[in-house]
Amino acid sequence: MTRKIVLSGIRPTGRIHLGNYWGAVKNWVDLQDAYDCRYFIADLHALTTSYAETSSIRSATMDGVVDLLASGIDPEKSVLFLQSQVPQHAELAVVFGMITPLGWLERVPTYKEQIEQLREKDLGTYGFLGYPVLMTADITLYRANFVPVGKDQESHLEISREIVRRFNGFYGEVFPEPQALYTPSPKVPGIDARKMSKSYDNTIALSASADEVKTAVMAMVTDPKRARRADPGDPDTCNLYPFHQLYSPEDEQKTVAEECRTAARGCVDCKKHLIRNMNTALEPVRERRATLEAKPELVREVLEAGNEKARKLASETMESVSSAMGLYVSGGKP
Ligand code: TRP
Ligand code: SF4
Repeated sequence: MTRKIVLSGIRPTGRIHLGNYWGAVKNWVDLQDAYDCRYFIADLHALTTSYAETSSIRSATMDGVVDLLASGIDPEKSVLFLQSQVPQHAELAVVFGMITPLGWLERVPTYKEQIEQLREKDLGTYGFLGYPVLMTADITLYRANFVPVGKDQESHLEISREIVRRFNGFYGEVFPEPQALYTPSPKVPGIDARKMSKSYDNTIALSASADEVKTAVMAMVTDPKRARRADPGDPDTCNLYPFHQLYSPEDEQKTVAEECRTAARGCVDCKKHLIRNMNTALEPVRERRATLEAKPELVREVLEAGNEKARKLASETMESVSSAMGLYVSGGKP
């Protein structure tokens, strides 16, 4: 029986943080046993917003690869690769660009929103508008059936489906329509209580040292109603508690919630308790990361082997594209 294909990518924005981990990477790891997975570092996508400042993309790429491997992405099970090393992504994006109506791209809700939010950058570029076209190429090159997405990526995947339908309509059924795979995305607040995000500078790295975890947790905002130690708290409005839900065993979570509500525990003790549990969980990842960091050659070899597998899969797809379109795009022989 052939397994369904899952594909996802992550931008190289530096070390993976706990928000990335719980929102995406953990799901990627868990999907490996039931699907044929293709995961990549989306370095071309990084250019859509960082074209003027490329100096950090290279090191962020290798950090991303190391973090994915340390998190449990297994190159024996999944194809792990770097987008730019598979030139067919760019080639198929050109083809899709030809059939994608401008209106579809302009109507993506996040398009205007992001231009507003990232005002310091000039995002009035062709590449930024065409981001969903490149994303469609990423997905279809591997004939992916499922794309694990958060709610924010839903509209992009909708466009991908429309582009696929349009392509299949013109040239024949070459690609399956990719479906969203709704995976768990637990709440992960940052140290300042906003959503954990690189752009808010409130992250905890997956590979943070025991001391860094301690400093970050001690700095976290707790339930603002607990001005004094004797004031009862509410775990549901405290942004430390979601971390207990991620890192503490269930019986301990219950105790935390009860003792918080009755003021039987103070926030400092609660934080120390959490720090112990987080460090226990994060230690194996840190160790794997340290081992990999000590062997950069090995990491490069693993990535190159993944790139090679991806190029092979991609060139097979491009042959189908060529013959469906009756063209000489790569793979088609004149
Ligand atoms: N959009 C994702 C991000 O910004 C990365 C990405 C690029 C992706 N291409 C994709 C995700 C294809 C899923 C499918 O991090
Ligand atoms: Fe949050 Fe714990 Fe303090 Fe309650 S006791 S407010 S859960 S840090």
